[in-house]
Amino acid sequence: MIKIAPSILSADFANLERDIHRISAADYVHVDVMDGVFVPNISIGIPVVQSIRKVTDMFLDVHLMIVEPVRYVEQFCDAGADLVTVHVEADSAHKIMEAINKIHAKGKKAGIVLKPKTPAEAALPFLEHVDLILVMTVEPGFGGQKFMADMMPKVAALRKLIDEKNPACELEVDGGVAPDTCRTCIEAGANVLVAGSAVYKAPDIPARIAELRG
Ligand code: DX5
Ligand code: ZN
Repeated sequence: MIKIAPSILSADFANLERDIHRISAADYVHVDVMDGVFVPNISIGIPVVQSIRKVTDMFLDVHLMIVEPVRYVEQFCDAGADLVTVHVEADSAHKIMEAINKIHAKGKKAGIVLKPKTPAEAALPFLEHVDLILVMTVEPGFGGQKFMADMMPKVAALRKLIDEKNPACELEVDGGVAPDTCRTCIEAGANVLVAGSAVYKAPDIPARIAELRG
């Protein structure tokens, strides 16, 4: 089954509770955390995750676009994240592994993220230790960018590796996913699709979520 994870980066932050209830037909709430260092933008952090947790039982997928994420993963778990993903580019392999272990010790799911220029092989040291791998289909930092179709061979390569080595692991894509690009992601092997603008700009959000399932 294909899961849809609307990104609240495209929501109205002054009406966040309303905008989370608007996506109740989806599977995950995708929360983009940006520190202004790892990416050239600043979004939201721990207190906002805490507040979201109070108003929904939906699965919270927290995407950390921050340097040295090992410093903060436990706080995001305590704030109510169900899944915390960290970029492999954000620290040494050893520290990324430490972050994964800390998330698991909190009883939460852990994932890694690959930026567009990072090859599939960068996931190998972590593949058997994570619950999800996220492939960026835009440069992280902003919503509303153009989908990078040239990431599909990387998604297909990771699907093959996951099926061989850790079949329970999920494969997520993030950036530019819309009705005209969702199918190519699913065909390449993704099973979780993040979509920000395609969901929140839709006139009928539940219908758009259904459409994105392919
Ligand atoms: C980008 C974020 C995405 C973003 C996706 O750095 O990680 O989650 O919100 O937005 P769209 O779907 O509009 O490309
Ligand atoms: Zn994201």
